[in-house]
Amino acid sequence: MQRYNWDPKLSVDIEPIDRQHQTLLTILNDVIDIINTNQHISFFEDVVHRMVTYVRTHFHCEEALMRQANYPKLDEHIALHKQFILKILELNQNFNPYSPRMRSDLVHFLKTWYKGHIGNHDRDYIPYLKKLSPQSIKWLVEDIEANLEENELPWD
Ligand SMILES: [Fe+2]
Ligand SMILES: [Fe+2]
Repeated sequence: MQRYNWDPKLSVDIEPIDRQHQTLLTILNDVIDIINTNQHISFFEDVVHRMVTYVRTHFHCEEALMRQANYPKLDEHIALHKQFILKILELNQNFNPYSPRMRSDLVHFLKTWYKGHIGNHDRDYIPYLKKLSPQSIKWLVEDIEANLEENELPWD
């Protein structure tokens, strides 16, 4: 399975968000590496857990920024985030890490989501978030990141 490279076209041109998207990509590539090298199952579970924890923090940041920027499609975007978490939890529940088919389905799902969500839905909020000052974006993101493990979303 191929690793996924950062595509500059996916940039939202907002530094802390691009950085988070790149961290997510690193975690996604860790999932792919573990699958490619047939590493022990506990590594796989760890990395999926790491992804869910990180994605929660990331969604938290985006949702707070979109709210602050009065992004008109906020509710729609939150629903997409929710759908993603629910899908991951569902996959995780029925997941047999020894099944090559399930392993590749999971990676396929993550890759497709990554490209589709960031490339379409995240890019859509750019003009709104650009109205916020870079300093206020930075503070808000840092504040949320400081509570990484505790970042439960309201619908968790
Ligand atoms: Fe995002
Ligand atoms: Fe998003």
